[in-house]
Amino acid sequence: MKGQYLYRNVSKVTTHILQRMRNEGEKIAMLTAYDFSTARLLDEAKIDVILVGDSAANVMAGYKTTLPITLNDMIYHASSVVRAVERALVVVDMPFGTYQGNSIEALASAIRIMKESGADAVKLEGGMEVSESIDRILSAGIPVMGHLGLTPQSINKFGTYTVRATTQKEVEKLLADAKVLEERGCFALVLEKIPATIGKQVTESINIPTIGIGAGPHTNGQVLVFHDMMGYSQQFSPRFLRRYHNFSEEIIGAVTHYINDVKQREFPNEKEQY
Ligand code: KIV
Repeated sequence: MKGQYLYRNVSKVTTHILQRMRNEGEKIAMLTAYDFSTARLLDEAKIDVILVGDSAANVMAGYKTTLPITLNDMIYHASSVVRAVERALVVVDMPFGTYQGNSIEALASAIRIMKESGADAVKLEGGMEVSESIDRILSAGIPVMGHLGLTPQSINKFGTYTVRATTQKEVEKLLADAKVLEERGCFALVLEKIPATIGKQVTESINIPTIGIGAGPHTNGQVLVFHDMMGYSQQFSPRFLRRYHNFSEEIIGAVTHYINDVKQREFPNEKEQY
């Protein structure tokens, strides 16, 4: 089953294709994007899913947590991404405060995201506590991706970003929540920062695709934050992160080169003027 790439040539990835990938053993590749130019490149590379994550709060806006980002901000990022994408499934994070504890507001927020950005689906964090919101969003025909394990919007409840599901009680709640999300009709589930054995257990206990970030190799897919995997920052360095590029060094190098060229009157040259 290693290295299957059955759905490379589909013209549009849908939630149904993700389910087929899971059933047929093809791993799902997901990355975040928040802007037109990046999304266009990810789509050209044939990424399966683009997540317009609320991690935009961290990597785009510089906030310490994901809590401050607004619905308007997310719609702005999502519509920029949607304008670039032809093939990938575009999923948009519902920001903190737009779906918890009020399913009517949750539906209104999800409708705004879908109508104003043109995205394909929404994602929200939590299990049983948000099941009423999930029901109502699904009732409008909007596909929902769940997110369990480390849920960054609850950082103030937990106080740390350490590995989740390390006690029996937590594992039981995670398994029960995963079942609830599947039964309610979520089309996929992100599992963040949990032991690999638990990632495997959750994946084997449900029939919808699981997509892991720091959840080991057994989930049906993997997701990383684009800026982290491209090495925009050397500071953020969790164990699960594989850096595929050293963008910070390359950008600083290129910018330093440009500055020197300008200072030394080497840019623009004769061919670079009218
Ligand atoms: O906001 C985000 O980027 C996410 C991923 C880490 C899964 O939720």
